[in-house]
Amino acid sequence: MNRTRLRIVLVGLLAGLLLVLPAASFGKGSATQLEVFSWWTGGGEAHGLDALIKIWNKAHPTMHVKNSAVAGGAGSNAKAVLAQRLSAHKPPDSFQGHAGAELQDYIKAGQLEAIDSLYKKYGLNKVFPQQLIQQITYKGHLYSVPVNIHRANVLWYNPAALRKAGIKGAPTTWAAFIADLKLAKKAGLIPLALGEQWTQKHLLETVMIGKLGTSGWAALWKKGANWNSANVTAALNRYKELLTYTNSDAASLTWQDASKLVADGKAAFNIMGDWADGYFRVDLKKKPNTGYGWTAVPGTGGVYDWLSDSFTLPKGAPHRAAAVQWLGFLGSKKAQDTFNPLKGSIPARKDANAKLYGTYLKWALAQWKSDKLAGSLTHGVVASNAWNTDIDTALGLFVQTKNVSRFQSALVTAAKKRAT
Ligand code: GAL
Repeated sequence: MNRTRLRIVLVGLLAGLLLVLPAASFGKGSATQLEVFSWWTGGGEAHGLDALIKIWNKAHPTMHVKNSAVAGGAGSNAKAVLAQRLSAHKPPDSFQGHAGAELQDYIKAGQLEAIDSLYKKYGLNKVFPQQLIQQITYKGHLYSVPVNIHRANVLWYNPAALRKAGIKGAPTTWAAFIADLKLAKKAGLIPLALGEQWTQKHLLETVMIGKLGTSGWAALWKKGANWNSANVTAALNRYKELLTYTNSDAASLTWQDASKLVADGKAAFNIMGDWADGYFRVDLKKKPNTGYGWTAVPGTGGVYDWLSDSFTLPKGAPHRAAAVQWLGFLGSKKAQDTFNPLKGSIPARKDANAKLYGTYLKWALAQWKSDKLAGSLTHGVVASNAWNTDIDTALGLFVQTKNVSRFQSALVTAAKKRAT
């Protein structure tokens, strides 16, 4: 059985198991366990959450967190498990959801409680940036607490590998990028490391933003948008070209596998979100600037392709009062300054202590203040789960056929069907 099928079967089994287990059988002392659901299990993902749980458990000896994280980058498995649990009315006490359209899916389905009173109690309205508050507000109410801001459009590289290939510094323009990929190939390196399908969509979004700019990108997600434009065609052709510089086993690699190819000097470049900083630095013990380097994806200098992980209060949360406290804790300066330096993200709060953040994150903090914003597709900001699924299907086909015009028509159809 190939890896994808095996994963689908395993997710199905896991979801089935969770549905048949009565709530009371969730481990020892379950009556006082606060179940937190996310997809942060592996390298670059788990350390931040573990640190939060440690603080929480110390302060709440009779209400420990039950960590129900389901492995799989970008929630590729977790979201399916969650959907089944929510439709069976067996929600965890709090679950991870991306700010923006993804969160609205849950709100519109009536699966979340508004938490305006929590915002009032902790004064959270004032500590988060206004543009973020907008993304988590629906019809005047707030539904989640954001823990971070991630940046998706980062070009990671191995400085030693670049030197070996004769590449002088990281590229900033498309033409320079292609020239560097050619040099890397000549030097026997994987020019651009790539992983499983969601990372391919992640790559696509950064290429599209680079070609269309922030306003062209934002326009695509509105009703009546022109997905048929020559600019979209040009972006898709760029993407097609880029794929010729990637490893042929991409479909079977996780994002960590692809990042590791760069860390190990087997690949020159990888385009990934800044959770890779957490992975390089905390898991692989690499030093910023020497062990790994970064810059904006070529063509996206001055643009922050952003996303935010937020936590929710599902309707019917088994330990509602504790879940509300957990959300208050997540919004605190202490929680955000503990979590983010490990996770490789900047805090959602505006008042974080910058001294606690490493070299990459100091760069990101500065960029966040000056860059124009583009919302992430792959990580839930601009399009609903359903729209994302349509794009996934079209992209899956494109990766096989490399037929740009068919891909573009499928994207046009998806937009007509899904834009609201
Ligand atoms: C994103 C998520 C990040 C990180 C990444 C890789 O969707 O927002 O926190 O976990 O997936 O799994």
